[in-house]
Amino acid sequence: MDALDLLMSSHQRVRGMCHQFEQALDDGNGAAMLTLAGRMRAEIETHMVIEDELFYPAVRDLGEDVAVLVAEGIEEHHDVKLLLSELVDLSPGASAWKARWTVLMERIEHHTDHEEAELFSRVRTCTTSDWRRKLGERLAVRKGRLGADLTRRALHPVAAAGRRRGHGSRMGATTVSA
Ligand SMILES: [Fe+2]
Ligand SMILES: [Fe+2]
Repeated sequence: MDALDLLMSSHQRVRGMCHQFEQALDDGNGAAMLTLAGRMRAEIETHMVIEDELFYPAVRDLGEDVAVLVAEGIEEHHDVKLLLSELVDLSPGASAWKARWTVLMERIEHHTDHEEAELFSRVRTCTTSDWRRKLGERLAVRKGRLGADLTRRALHPVAAAGRRRGHGSRMGATTVSA
């Protein structure tokens, strides 16, 4: 698969989940919020890893303008990672947790829109379809290996340990607060 198509389909998955999460927020559906938060987190984490490790390094030498866009992308990833890491300190379903997810989704929307409008369109103009397909194969392999357990192992060690002991639910969503 073309690397840009692979990344954009992942963006679309996250957009869809953000939309569903906002709907669950409006409906006060705590269970749906927790499920979606776990799925979003897994998709966002794996997406950032394959961009950081493979996509950005592969495209940054295509031109100075691309290198600038990659540097911006890395900074935006840093913001998202920080917000995600701080979620660990918040009680799932609580007001602060909902507010953090709202901010997170705004940042992600900005980042994905920015990537698609600037970086991806620039990469598409200065690479061949064969080059993008080969890169896409590497992204797909890495993403497959990461799987849904990335977040549990990398960013939710406490929740992961709890789940290994038989507590908690998927993706570190252990309890729901009103
Ligand atoms: Fe990104
Ligand atoms: Fe992306």
